Amino acid sequence: MSSRSIPIRPRRNRKNPAVRGLIRETHLSPADLIYPLFIQEGEDDTPIESMPGCSRWSLKGLVAEVGEAKKAGVRSVVLFPAIDDSLKTPLAEEAYNPNGLVPRAIQAIKAAHPEVIVITDVALDPYNSEGHDGVVVPDASGELQIVNDHTIDILCQQAVSHAVAGADIVAPSDMMDGRVAAIRDALDREGFDGVSILSYTAKYASAYYGPFRGALDSAPKAGDKKTYQMDPANAREALREASLDVAEGADMLMVKPAGPYLDIIRSIRDATDLPIAAYQVSGEYLMIKSAAKDGWIDEEKVAMESLIGIKRAGADMILTYFAKDVAARLIS
Ligand code: PBG
Repeated sequence: MSSRSIPIRPRRNRKNPAVRGLIRETHLSPADLIYPLFIQEGEDDTPIESMPGCSRWSLKGLVAEVGEAKKAGVRSVVLFPAIDDSLKTPLAEEAYNPNGLVPRAIQAIKAAHPEVIVITDVALDPYNSEGHDGVVVPDASGELQIVNDHTIDILCQQAVSHAVAGADIVAPSDMMDGRVAAIRDALDREGFDGVSILSYTAKYASAYYGPFRGALDSAPKAGDKKTYQMDPANAREALREASLDVAEGADMLMVKPAGPYLDIIRSIRDATDLPIAAYQVSGEYLMIKSAAKDGWIDEEKVAMESLIGIKRAGADMILTYFAKDVAARLIS
C-alpha cells in the first residue's frame, strides 16, 4: 500500500462556473419570491421615503406593478394598506369592511391577473386607532392591555372578508394566541376551505420594522408590541409557537425578520414538515439600499446573497421588497 497521502483539494469543485453550477446546493427562483406591496386610496402613487424603490400604490398603480412583477416571474404578492386616520377606530371595524381598500385591491388584482397568488395580512394595526395589532383596553391600573380573544373575533371577520374578495392565502401577523385555529374554523364555516393560512409563527418584537411603520404610519401610539411579538433572545419559544400553529391547522409557517433569525428558520425547518416562509423586512431592505446608495456595497450582489442565505437556512419562500428586481435578474 502506498504511504503517499492524497492531497485533498476542495478547490477542484470550484474550478469554473459550470462545475460550480453542478455542485450548487441552494437555488433561488422567481417562484420562491413573494412581493409585499403597499396600497392607498386615490389616484396617486406615492414613493415611500423610508423605503427607497417602494411606493404606496393606487389600485391602478398596484395592478400595473403586479403586472411588471409578473413579467419578471413573480407569482405571489402580499398586500399592506395605508388607512386614512378617519377610518381608524378602537375596534378596527374597517378591518372587515367588505368594500374596504384591501378587498377592492384583491378584486382588482384578480380581475387583471387571475393567476397571481394574492396574500393578505391579517392584523388590526392599520385600522386600530392605537396602532396595535389587537384591541387595546386599559386595565384597572391604566396599563394598556392587548385583549387576545376579542381581537381574534375581529381577525376572523377580517380573514373572511379577504376570502370573500378572492384572497388565496391569509397571513395572520398579529401573534394572538389561538388565532390560526379560529381563523381556520371561520373560513371553513363560510365555505372557504380552499383558502390557505400562512401563519406568522415566530414574529419577533423587532426594531427592523421601523421603515414599514413609517410607510404606513402604523407605529403604536403608546407602548410597544412586546406582549405579543416574541423576544429576540428566544429560540425554543419559536418551536413552541410552531407546534401550536401546526396543531391549529396552518398551511405554511413564517419566521420574521429573516436575516437576523436564520437559526430560527433552520430549527423550525427541521422540526416540522410544513413549508417555511421568511420575511426579509423593511429594515433589512433599507440597510442594503442605504449602504449601496452610499457606494459601500453592491446592491444587486448583496441582495442576492442575503436571499440565498435565507433559503440555505431552510426557507422555501421569501417575502422581500427586492422580489421584482431580483426575479428580473434571475430570468435575464
Ligand atoms: C403588522 C406588520 C408589520 C410588518 C408586517 N406586518 C409591522 C409590525 O408588526 O409592527 C413589518 C414588515 C416590515 O417591516 O417589512 N401586522
